[in-house]
Amino acid sequence: MVTPGGINAAAGPFMDDLARASRRARTLDGGSMDAIGILEKEHEDAKEAMHAIFASKPGDKKRLFSALKRDLELHDRIEEQVFDPMVEAHLKTAGFQARDKQAHEDVEAALARLDALAIDDKDWAPSFLAMQALLLRHVADEEVNIFGAVRKHVSAGALEALGQQMRAAKAEQHKTA
Ligand SMILES: [Fe+2]
Ligand SMILES: [Fe+2]
Repeated sequence: MVTPGGINAAAGPFMDDLARASRRARTLDGGSMDAIGILEKEHEDAKEAMHAIFASKPGDKKRLFSALKRDLELHDRIEEQVFDPMVEAHLKTAGFQARDKQAHEDVEAALARLDALAIDDKDWAPSFLAMQALLLRHVADEEVNIFGAVRKHVSAGALEALGQQMRAAKAEQHKTA
């Protein structure tokens, strides 16, 4: 028998699935995402990838980790080159550019340490969790303190144009990677 409580309990994961499916659909026609949409989508992808890596078989971990490391490094470069100068120009958040760069350096140092460890090293799991904590703290800083303020101060058209610029920069870096 399905109780009202049961329905509510089932709705949570269902709504999560729905949100994820709608994000995927937006990615497929990725042309419609603005600069913040692109960055938020990449943050979500990184969170999902970290869960997948932690849950994966030892044989798959290195490959999945390498893909996450490459994607995060590309995300960081695009933020630094395209997004951060716009933030500095429009927001009274002096120092975000330097804070973002420092956070990227910290996470990338943690990624490099992990890359140098064997998957079966006893330090791998604690190092992975430490890197994950650093990354999640940084993502929360951007999403809570920066993205909302940017939406308030920068026009929808300008964010669309910046999104195009980010896609072009990403395609360019993919070519040279
Ligand atoms: Fe960042
Ligand atoms: Fe970011």
